[in-house]
Amino acid sequence: MRNKKIIIAGGSGFIGQSLANYFGKENEVVILGRQSGDRHKNSYHQKLLPASGEYKLCYVKWNGRDVEETWSKEINGADIVINLAGKSVNCRYHKKQKKEIFDSRTYATKAIGEAIRRATQPPKLWVNAASATIYKDTHDLPNDEFTGKISDWKKDNMPYNLIDHIRYRKNRLLARLLHGRNSVSYKELELDFSVRVCKLWEKTFFDQATPATRKIALRTAITLGKGGVITPYLNLCKFGLGGKHGNGQQMFSWVHEEDVARMIEWLFENGKTEGVYNCVAPNVVSNYSFLKTLRQVTGHRIGLPASTWMLEAGALMIGTETELMLKSRWVIPARALQEGFTFKYSLLKDAFEQIIAGLPRNKYHLF
Ligand SMILES: NC(=O)c1ccc[n+]([C@@H]2O[C@H](COP(=O)([O-])OP(=O)(O)OC[C@H]3O[C@@H](n4cnc5c(N)ncnc54)[C@H](OP(=O)(O)O)[C@@H]3O)[C@@H](O)[C@H]2O)c1
Repeated sequence: MRNKKIIIAGGSGFIGQSLANYFGKENEVVILGRQSGDRHKNSYHQKLLPASGEYKLCYVKWNGRDVEETWSKEINGADIVINLAGKSVNCRYHKKQKKEIFDSRTYATKAIGEAIRRATQPPKLWVNAASATIYKDTHDLPNDEFTGKISDWKKDNMPYNLIDHIRYRKNRLLARLLHGRNSVSYKELELDFSVRVCKLWEKTFFDQATPATRKIALRTAITLGKGGVITPYLNLCKFGLGGKHGNGQQMFSWVHEEDVARMIEWLFENGKTEGVYNCVAPNVVSNYSFLKTLRQVTGHRIGLPASTWMLEAGALMIGTETELMLKSRWVIPARALQEGFTFKYSLLKDAFEQIIAGLPRNKYHLF
């Protein structure tokens, strides 16, 4: 793809920078971020891709919620808008954090929808980040876009409206009274938090009426590249702790960062389609195989396993949730494969080898 104008909201993060790297040399890329500098200045973060030189890249400030002329004018006449903005889910799910996780995604999505509606030349395609974690924790069958099991609203009680909200509160109270605060049924309601985020995010996205702009929610798996989740996994391997998590049987859906960019490019160039696509490599592995392959590629013989209680304690200490490691995410990209997309990295070993080859040894070895 060449000579297109691509807007990436929340593009200063891991996936955004990877997309900017992929598209930025042959297309004009505009990154919307809350801390970015002026239109032609990159004063925000030294690690960000340069806004001049080989990249046709610029950073524009927005606040992720109000439609202002400064950034909305960039959307007018653009070819693709990619929205990645949202507070990281890699934190403890306290009330304040949860609100920010919800609000950052819904406000940013609504603001982009409004900017597209106001544009005299709306973009041809709007891709909104979504997550493969929307599917149920399954161990028996994989989930695809057509038959995949999405967490049941009666159980997770997505508070879309007042009635749902009252139902959610009632179920929480009942679970607490009948089974206690530490019971699985009470905790399950909270554990479904990430599913509720995914649902609200997608609902907000599909609620935006943009008749001249195709809309695609990209249910993305854990993305592997030179950043993001690979760093903590490499650190575990470094210290001999790269063994299975829990019983290791939970499925681990993953995708290489380059395939995320390639899929967006393919959706733009080939498609007239809209709706939901799973952005997940076709060969899903178990948590055990994921860590075993990483150890093999990084040359670590020993990888001590971590049981659930150890993970709970560790997650508390480093301020994250065990759900990110223990939930079984078994998702396949049926729609993209059916429509002819081919993955460059469909095998985990190939993906790891490409990533590790580009990292200095001290990132995955102590010496
Ligand atoms: N990485 C994965 O494996 C993965 C998998 C599935 C889905 N996703 C989703 O894909 C999106 C991008 O992932 P990522 O790994 O690139 O995340 P990331 O590194 O955390 O980047 C997200 C970006 O969102 C912006 N942001 C943060 N808090 C915000 C707020 N309160 N309001 C508005 N913008 C805010 C930030 O940009 P500024 O600070 O510059 O504003 C940040 O650079 C996320 O929404 C994530 O949930 C990621």
